[in-house]
Amino acid sequence: MLKIVVCVSGGGTNLQAIIDAIEAGRITNTEILAVISNNAGAKALERAKNHGICGICMSPKSYPDRESFNQAFTDKMTELAPDIVVLAGFLVRIPPQMVHAFSNRIINIHPSLIPSFCGVGYYGLTVHEKALERGVKVTGATVHFVNEGMDEGPIIAQKAVMIEQGDTPEILQRRVMEQAEWILLPQAIDDIANGRLEIRDNHVYRC
Ligand code: GRF
Repeated sequence: MLKIVVCVSGGGTNLQAIIDAIEAGRITNTEILAVISNNAGAKALERAKNHGICGICMSPKSYPDRESFNQAFTDKMTELAPDIVVLAGFLVRIPPQMVHAFSNRIINIHPSLIPSFCGVGYYGLTVHEKALERGVKVTGATVHFVNEGMDEGPIIAQKAVMIEQGDTPEILQRRVMEQAEWILLPQAIDDIANGRLEIRDNHVYRC
């Protein structure tokens, strides 16, 4: 059984996609140990509660400095001891010591086709604003392992989404979620849970 902890900050629609996929049997062999949010008001925590999943709030704002948060967050994760940490719209930078302790065991969903529209400052609606500003015709989403860099770890899966005339950042964000994120992230978890992925030389292969 793959034990996962899901980290969230906001709406939690990706978390919901994971919960629904587990309940529908589209993700097998997987159990959500806990959901961690940096934001006590996150709708994601409500979603966890509705499904009997333990919700934990841990915010950098409640610590005197970043280093004490980083240590407390890493200690909490070590205590929960998941096989995989899933970042599903988590807006807090993962502490370096946690990346190290959970090497190739943290995955993230990003709402663009990496390496486009990613890196520092590219989160939330900004990603879609920038894609529309640049006039690209195709965007999408990426699931990747997390390393010390920002959106730089080995890519697990990507899915393209067409941009349509008249798109606003909000419309595009919703389409990328519906057509890519809510499909890709559950699939990646199911692939990991069922031993279908292998990392060699910083690349992910299906086996
Ligand atoms: C998603 O677009 C995800 O790709 C990004 O943050 C958003 C989170 O949405 N990292 P939700 O909280 O899952 O609804």
